[in-house]
Amino acid sequence: MLNITVLVSGGGTNLQALLDAQNRGDIPNGRVTCVISSNPKAYALERAQNAGIETEIIQKKNYESPEQYDEALVALLEKHHTDLVVLAGFMTIFGKTVVEHYPNRIINVHPALIPSFCGKGYYGLHVHEAALKCGVKLTGATVHFVNEVCDGGPIILQKAVEVHPGDTPELLQRRVMEQAEWEILPKAVSLFCDGKIEVKNQIAEIKE
Ligand code: GAR
Repeated sequence: MLNITVLVSGGGTNLQALLDAQNRGDIPNGRVTCVISSNPKAYALERAQNAGIETEIIQKKNYESPEQYDEALVALLEKHHTDLVVLAGFMTIFGKTVVEHYPNRIINVHPALIPSFCGKGYYGLHVHEAALKCGVKLTGATVHFVNEVCDGGPIILQKAVEVHPGDTPELLQRRVMEQAEWEILPKAVSLFCDGKIEVKNQIAEIKE
């Protein structure tokens, strides 16, 4: 049974999707044992507490340097015996130290079809604003491993979602969450915990 630590910053609907999947028995080889938030007011913390899960808060602004922040984050992850880190709407960038401690053991959900609308500055509603501005007719979500390149790690799962005429960023965000993120994030986490994801030359392969 793998220990999963989920990193959050906001509403935590992806965290909820993971907890719901866990309760349905869809993640038989892993369990969320800790939720770490970058924001003390995140509603995600309430979701964790309602589920009886331990919580921690870590704010980058409280550290003198990015390196010290990274070390503190790794210490928290180790304190909770983390096997898998899941970034579920985590809006703080961390550095090499964290990535090197958990090679191909950090999973992120991004609200677009990478390599579109990703990288620095593309987070939350900004991603959907950019997709609408570009006029794409399909967008979606991607679950990928985290490496040193922002949104550049091996892609595990993707799902496409239609853009509708008259969409606002908020409407599109909700559709992408409902139709893609809440489905592929728990699925990817379960595959990982089952030992079914293999990374070769930066390409993630799902073993059947
Ligand atoms: C989600 O749409 C997630 O994909 C996105 O933030 C939202 C968080 O919602 N993450 C990013 O943009 C990271 N680059 P949630 O707190 O309700 O899960």
